[in-house]
Amino acid sequence: MIPQSFIADLLNRIDIVDVVGAHVQLKKGGANLLGLCPFHNEKSPSFTVSPAKQFYHCFGCGAHGSAIGFLMEHAGLSYVEAIRDLAQSIGMAVPEETGPGGPRLAADTARDLTERLERAATFFQSRLEGAEAARTYLNGRGLTRRAARIFRIGYAPDEWNALKEVFGEQYDDRAMADTGLTIDSDRGTRYDRFRGRVIFPIRGTRGAIIGFGGRVIGAGEPKYLNSPETPLFDKGRELYGLFEARQAIREAGRVIVVEGYMDVVALAQAGIGYAVATLGTACTPAHVQKLARQADRVVFCFDGDAAGRRAARRALDNALSLVSDDKVFAFLFLPPEHDPDSYVREHGRAAFEALEREALPLSRVLIDQLREEADLGSAEGRAALVSAAKPQLLRIAAPGLRLGLVKEIAFLVDMLPTEVERLCDLKPQAALPRVAPPRVARAPMTPLDEQIVRLLVRDPGLAALDETGRHRAIIPGASPLHALLDAINSAPGPVSAAWLVEHLGGSDLEPLLRRAQVEELEIEKSGDIVVSEYLHALEAMRGQWRRQRMEELAARAAGDSGAREEYSALLGEETRQRARSGAG
Ligand code: UTP
Ligand code: MN
Repeated sequence: MIPQSFIADLLNRIDIVDVVGAHVQLKKGGANLLGLCPFHNEKSPSFTVSPAKQFYHCFGCGAHGSAIGFLMEHAGLSYVEAIRDLAQSIGMAVPEETGPGGPRLAADTARDLTERLERAATFFQSRLEGAEAARTYLNGRGLTRRAARIFRIGYAPDEWNALKEVFGEQYDDRAMADTGLTIDSDRGTRYDRFRGRVIFPIRGTRGAIIGFGGRVIGAGEPKYLNSPETPLFDKGRELYGLFEARQAIREAGRVIVVEGYMDVVALAQAGIGYAVATLGTACTPAHVQKLARQADRVVFCFDGDAAGRRAARRALDNALSLVSDDKVFAFLFLPPEHDPDSYVREHGRAAFEALEREALPLSRVLIDQLREEADLGSAEGRAALVSAAKPQLLRIAAPGLRLGLVKEIAFLVDMLPTEVERLCDLKPQAALPRVAPPRVARAPMTPLDEQIVRLLVRDPGLAALDETGRHRAIIPGASPLHALLDAINSAPGPVSAAWLVEHLGGSDLEPLLRRAQVEELEIEKSGDIVVSEYLHALEAMRGQWRRQRMEELAARAAGDSGAREEYSALLGEETRQRARSGAG
C-alpha cells in the first residue's frame, strides 16, 4: 500500500516527457509532443504526450495514461514497480504503509541512512591511502588512482569497531543497524560488517550511496561480502556503476552488463565507460527493464562457461518482453578462461569492442538454445522445438522480431510460418495494440456531468471553489461526480489530471476522464473562461435537478405540508436564479 499523497506528489514532480522520451522519440507538435506509438505499428505519428497535463494518448490505438501507466504498459511493470521506478529516478524513497502502523521508511529516516552511508564511504576512502596490503593488491590488479577516485574505492580497516571513529555515540543507535554497516551479535554487541576488505561503494540513481561490496584482499572466503538488503538497497534492482556510467552510455548509445565490480572498473579504466554490473545476483526483470531505459542497445556480457550460459538464459527470458523493433539486446560470450576484467587488460579496448560488435543478437541466442535442446532429425524433436518456442514467442511484443523468429523456426522444423503461428497460438493481431479499448461507463452520464468532469480534469483546482460545500449539495446523490470531487478534496496537495486518472482508474469515471483528457489535447482555454463555465455548469445542474424535484413535489403537494414548503423554497430559488442570470 503506497499512500495516495505520495503518488500525487510523485506525479507532480516527475515529467512524463522524460519517462516516455526514454522509449519513444518525441517531436514538438504545438503544445504537445508527438511520436510513433510504441503500442501499435504505425508510420505516421499519432502518439501524443501532453507536458501540461502529464499524460499520453494515442489517436491511433487509444492507448492512454499517466507516466505510471506508461511504464506498466510499455515495460510490463506492476503498479508498485512503476511507482518505485519513477520515485527512484528522481530520488524519492517510496514510503510503504505496512498497515495502520504508517510508513516503513519516512523521508527523514532515508536521509539519515544516506548520510551515514556517505560518511562511511568517505572514511573507507580515506583509509585506502595508508593501507599497505590493500594498495599493493589493487596496484597488482592495475587499478589507477583516477579510477579509484571515480568509483570511490576504499578500504575497511581490519578492526571490529573501526566505524566508531566515524560515528561516535551514534554507532550504537538503532538506525545504525539499518545501514547494513554493522552486525549485532547474539550477545548484544555490535561490530563492523566490513573488516580488512577493499570497499566498492554502490550508488543509487542519483549518486547517493546505498550499499557496499567488500573484497577480501587476495584469496579468502567469502571473496565478496555485500551490504544486506536495507530499506535503501534492493539488489534485484540496482546496478553497480550505473551512476558513473550514465554519460558514457548516452554517448555510446549502448550499455554493457557484466558480472563483477572489478569488471566495471577495469572496463572504465580501459576507456569503456558504459559498463554496469548486477550485484552478485542473476539479472532480474527489474534489471533488464532499467537497462532498456538507458539505451537502445543492451549487451549482456557473460563468461564463456556453463554458468555464463545459464546467466545468459535468465537474462534472455527477462529481456523477451522488452524487446521492441528498435530496442536490441545482444549477448557477448567471452572465451571460457576470461572475464571482462582479465580480457580487457590482456587484449585492450579495441579487441574488446570488436568482440562486442559481434555480440549475438537475442534472436540468434534464442534460436541456438532451441536447436541445442531439440533433435531436428525426428518429427517429435521438431514438435518439441516448436512447443519450447511457444512461451518465448508469446512474450515478444515486437511484431517484426516475432515474425522473423517465426519464419526462422518454421524453416528449421520444416513447417509453414502460419503453421508455427497456429501451433503457438500466435494470433496475428496479438502483436498489435496491447491496450484494451476503453470500457463503457455503467451509469449513463448527462452532458452536464460530462462537462463538469471535463472542466475538473482541465483544472482540478476548481473543486476548491466549493468552500461552503454548496456545490456538493447540488449534485444528485447517485452521481459519479461525487467520487471525483472526493478524490480531489481528499488529496493532500495540488492535484494533477494525471493523478486523477491514476486514482480513479477502473472506476466508472475512467472512460470519461480519458475522453476529457483527449479533448484537452485539442483545445486551449483561458483560466477565467474555465471558472465561469464550471460555475455555470453547476448552476445548470442544480436547475435541472430543481425543476425535476419541483414536478415531483407538485404532484404530492396537495396533502403534504412538507412538500409544499420545499416546493416554495425551490420556487424562490428558481426566481432568484432567473433574476441573476437575467442580470448577468
Ligand atoms: P566473480 O566470482 O566472477 O568475481 O563474481 P570477479 O568479479 O571476477 O572478482 P575478482 O575479479 O576476483 O575480484 C562476480 C560478482 O559476483 C558477486 C560480486 O558482485 C562479484 O563482483 N560475488 C562474487 C559476491 O557477491 N560474493 C562472492 O563471494 C563472489
Ligand atoms: Mn574477475
